[in-house]
Amino acid sequence: MERLQKVIAAAGYASRRQAEELIAAGHVAVNGVPVTVLGTQVEPTDQVAIDGVVLTREEKVYYLLNKPAGVVSTTDDDKKRQTVVDLIHAQERIFPIGRLDFDTTGVLLLTNDGDFNNALIHPRFHVEKEYRVKIAGLIRKETSATLCRGIELDGVKTAPAKIRDVRYDEDKTSTHLTIVIHEGKYHQIKRMFEAVGHPVLKLRRERFGTVTCEGLKPGGWRKLKPHEIKQLWNLSKFGKTEQ
Ligand code: URA
Repeated sequence: MERLQKVIAAAGYASRRQAEELIAAGHVAVNGVPVTVLGTQVEPTDQVAIDGVVLTREEKVYYLLNKPAGVVSTTDDDKKRQTVVDLIHAQERIFPIGRLDFDTTGVLLLTNDGDFNNALIHPRFHVEKEYRVKIAGLIRKETSATLCRGIELDGVKTAPAKIRDVRYDEDKTSTHLTIVIHEGKYHQIKRMFEAVGHPVLKLRRERFGTVTCEGLKPGGWRKLKPHEIKQLWNLSKFGKTEQ
């Protein structure tokens, strides 16, 4: 069962707020019966109509994209740049789960399922994100330890992180390393390294929860498999894949 305003919003007909207004104003009918009560619960099989026009309810879909550089992680871009949604030829109204910067590559999930999105992006749910990063300069062990313990960004301390597989470039001007975090603050990785004097030169998300881009070339995408969707739900709820 789902709330009527949510069903209308999920069908892409209106925002949730607008849907509430439509219901209150008497524009909505369920199985032919006008409904004006907000929060009315409807079954997936119920027919919902707005001013007599029956809504087509979209099936929930889940995609994995190996995001290339030079693409924006939005559904629409006012500068008319290519978006991650343009790369996937989906019939449904999908959107990215969180964002990767224009120049960041790697694992990006897209869906039309708002609950799945909320479950995965909320830091409370501890879904790990793993990044391979190239930073300027040679990072010291103490600096890595400071980042792992957490540093202040905008007055709030970042949650504990893990850093591993640290490798200095042959010319000794930059460092490659892997960092695992479970938050998604705005430009988090870039700001964390910037804050300790090591600007990020290259950034790739290697893993989101249990999902990697193995087998997908840049720009390549596929639908998530049912077991992958289930694992991600479990990770968001229980912090582990079995339950
Ligand atoms: N952190 C960043 O700074 N940028 C990204 O694209 C992802 C995480």
